[in-house]
Amino acid sequence: MLKEAAVRVIAEQFHRRVLYPLLTSGQAKKDREVAHERILGLMEKYIENNQPLRKFLTQCFTYEDPVLEQEIFGLKFKQPCMVAAGFDKNARVYQSLTSLGLPPDIGTIPRWPYAGTPKPRVFMLEGDQGMINRMGYPSDGLHEIEKRLAKKYTPRNLRDFNIHLNFGVNQPSFDRGAPLFDLALTYNDIYGLGDILTLAVSPNTPDSLGLLEPENLSEALERISNIRKSKKEWKPLLLKLIPDLTFAQIDKILDVALSHGVDGMVLTNTTTDPNTRMLLKGMYKDETGGYSGPYLKSKSLVAIHYVYTHTEGKFPICAAGGLNTPLDAFEAVVYGGASWLQFYYAVVTRKTSTPNFSYDMCQSLAKELRTHGFKNITEAVGAYAK
Ligand SMILES: Cc1cc2nc3c(=O)[nH]c(=O)nc-3n(C[C@H](O)[C@H](O)[C@H](O)COP(=O)(O)O)c2cc1C
Repeated sequence: MLKEAAVRVIAEQFHRRVLYPLLTSGQAKKDREVAHERILGLMEKYIENNQPLRKFLTQCFTYEDPVLEQEIFGLKFKQPCMVAAGFDKNARVYQSLTSLGLPPDIGTIPRWPYAGTPKPRVFMLEGDQGMINRMGYPSDGLHEIEKRLAKKYTPRNLRDFNIHLNFGVNQPSFDRGAPLFDLALTYNDIYGLGDILTLAVSPNTPDSLGLLEPENLSEALERISNIRKSKKEWKPLLLKLIPDLTFAQIDKILDVALSHGVDGMVLTNTTTDPNTRMLLKGMYKDETGGYSGPYLKSKSLVAIHYVYTHTEGKFPICAAGGLNTPLDAFEAVVYGGASWLQFYYAVVTRKTSTPNFSYDMCQSLAKELRTHGFKNITEAVGAYAK
C-alpha cells in the first residue's frame, strides 16, 4: 500500500515536471496531435507489451473499492471510469490505458484506412475552456486494427477488464457509396474481439449524421442485429449520439434503437452548437469542428437525464462530455443516471493530466457516494434523476 502510494506521488511529480513539458514542447506545443502521438508512442514502446509492468501499474493506479463495483449486461466492472473514444483510435495502447485505470472506448473503428481531414485539426483552447477537433475519423482501418486486436486478445475468463470497441463510418465509405455495408462488415469483423460494441456518429463526418435519420438508423440496426443473431455469443450494443439533438429527435432515435435491440447509449460526442461557441474566448475559438470540455457538460447531462428517465432507467448509459471533476462524475451518475464515465478533455489537459487521474477520480467519487449514503454505485445510478 505504502509502496503504491509512493509510486503515485513520484509519478505525479515526474509527469508534471518532466513528462508533460517534454510531451508538449517544440512541434507538440503547436500541434496537439504531435503531443498525442508522443504519449501513444511511449506507452506502446514501454508499457503495452510489458505484462509485469502493466500488472504493477494496475496495482498502483487502479483504485479498487467495493462501492464502485457493478455488474452490467452480465459483465463485471471494478470501477466506472474510462477514456472516451478517439484517444486510442487504432487499438495501440488499450492495455496500457487499462493498467492506468482508464480502459478506453477503442476507436472509432471504420472499415477503410483514412488520413482524415487536413492538419491542424485539433485545437486546445486557452485556459480551461476545452478543445475543438475536426479529425473526421482518421484510422489505420479495420484490417490493421483487427489484426492488432486479435494479437492482443485474451479470452474473457482470463482477464479482469472489459474491451470496449467503438465503430462507425468515415468519409471513404460514403465516397464509395456503401456506408451501411461497410458498417455491418466492420461490426461483423470486430464482434469476437470485444465485450461491448458501440456504434458512434460524429459531427466531423457530416454524412455520418444521416445515420441518425430514423429510416437510415433502422436499416443500419437491422443489418447489425441480423449479424448479432448469427453469432454464438450475445454482446451488448450501445449507440453514441451527438448532444445537438432535440427531445423529439431523441424520442425517434430511442424508438428505433429499442425496437432493434440496442442495449444502451454513450452520451455524448462533441457539440457544434453555436450557443456553446458563444462562450469561447481567444485563439482558435472560431475553428470549425466539434467542441469538447467543460461547457459541454450541461448539454450532455440533459441528454443523459432525458434518455434515463424516458427508458425508466432500464437502458444503461455511459456519460461522456465535459466531465472534469469528481463532482461532475457524481452528478452524471446520481442526477443523470449514468453507469459509466468517459473522459477525453480532462485526461489531456495540463491541469488534470496525470497518471493518477483515474485513481483520484475514483477515490473521490467513492467518498462522495458514501457521504450521500449510497451502499454502491448501482444504488446511486439515477437516484436523484426523478
Ligand atoms: C481529438 C478528439 C478525437 C475524438 N475522436 C472520437 C472518435 O473517434 N470517436 C468518437 O466516438 N468520439 C470521439 N471524440 C469524442 C470523445 O469521445 C468525447 O465524446 C467528447 O470529447 C466529449 O468528452 P470530453 O468533454 O470529456 O472531451 C473525440 C474527441 C476529441 C477531442
